[in-house]
Amino acid sequence: MTTSILTPVDGRVEGYDALLALDHAHLLHPQHHPADHAEALIFDRGEGAVLWDVRGHRYLDGLSCLWNVNVGHGRAELAEAGAAQMRRLAFVNSYVGSSNEPAITLAARIARLAPGTHLNTTFFTTGGAESSDTAFKTVRRYWALRGQPGKVKVISRTNGYHGTTIGATAATGLPVFHPLWGPPAPGFVIVPPMDVDAIEAAILADGPETVAAVIAEPVQGSGGVYPPPADYFPRLRALCDRYDVLLIADEVITGFGRTGTSWGLDHWGVVPDVISFAKGITSGYQPLGGIIISDAIRDVIYDQPPAQRWWHAYTYSAHATCCAVAHANLDLIEREGLVARAGALGERLVAGLAPLAGHPAVREVRGFGLMAAVEFTAGAVPGGGGALAKAMRDRGLFTRYRNDTVMFAPPFVTTDAELDELLGITRDSVRAVTGE
Ligand SMILES: Cc1ncc(COP(=O)(O)O)c(C=O)c1O
Repeated sequence: MTTSILTPVDGRVEGYDALLALDHAHLLHPQHHPADHAEALIFDRGEGAVLWDVRGHRYLDGLSCLWNVNVGHGRAELAEAGAAQMRRLAFVNSYVGSSNEPAITLAARIARLAPGTHLNTTFFTTGGAESSDTAFKTVRRYWALRGQPGKVKVISRTNGYHGTTIGATAATGLPVFHPLWGPPAPGFVIVPPMDVDAIEAAILADGPETVAAVIAEPVQGSGGVYPPPADYFPRLRALCDRYDVLLIADEVITGFGRTGTSWGLDHWGVVPDVISFAKGITSGYQPLGGIIISDAIRDVIYDQPPAQRWWHAYTYSAHATCCAVAHANLDLIEREGLVARAGALGERLVAGLAPLAGHPAVREVRGFGLMAAVEFTAGAVPGGGGALAKAMRDRGLFTRYRNDTVMFAPPFVTTDAELDELLGITRDSVRAVTGE
């Protein structure tokens, strides 16, 4: 313990150095490596698309933190909705014979928002990975109850990200996540992305009678922002129908407006059998996720004797406070027209980044809706995406990178002036790291 350097004020620890020392001593971070935290930013507050750290430095939030703070920071009405619900009833369990109003009305609201007519039933989780695992168990259970217990395999795609629980890790198509954790969950097959033929080959390898579902993000996000070809999802839907394989849309990033439509798959008029969601449902103000299942899946699950019930559960499923905050978040998105705003901002973002594609060190600029990425040619820039992200951070723009790719997904409330500032910092930073 390094308590000697602390200056507690009203129970809080004041001072960047003191906080950083405590962080190093006690906090294990997601994807932890100590080197990443040597000069960690310690954030203190946010407003709209802007974050401030404890040293008073201002940063544009280039990724809505983790693709989730879609309505921007510091939205008092979300805090008030949460506080009001906590004062009334913060939590009650949603297990057998128990329910609560915010969860009931939110599930009904999601059924209205869901595409098509047959996605009407939601199970709530607290995040994306729990949603992935819930989806995998559910599609397997569905086929077993339909008399096909051999249909267990889940096909996913390279560059896909579905979370880091054991099941979600197995479906995640980013190799770094795989080898460290002992035996992987069986029954997962990862195929090349954006290639429907590769999925067909995987289905036929051991036969459709072994395959439960395909899971896909409408636009691959954390893997580096890869939008699909226009015919990809219509073809994938038809393929799944042909072989009696369910389609799970992982809308954890794209759900609730990120691409300028309610759902990512709306762009291609495709309706999946299961939607998994998280992030944008509460804009990160409370942890909440879930899966929306088709009526066909629901009917099979509901139509069982008690001993054969759906033995799946989380303590915090249908959490009353999280659901109340989700309602307030969706109210705000509707009232402020933020889905359309995300679409318009996305066009401005992608158009503003596009000229960078002509830079000799840049391999590709990609974008779709309010998601974009700049990828350097491998080896063209010492330090790759990490160097660019650092240069941006030094200039007041906070975002994330993977290998040679830096990603953008600012809040839907980013102003035009802030977006132009983001683009300016990006251009300056590319110049800086390429030595121009
Ligand atoms: C598409 C997608 N699915 C699942 C997840 C996992 O979500 P969580 O980190 O809430 O478990 C993420 C997280 O970034 C994601 O982007």
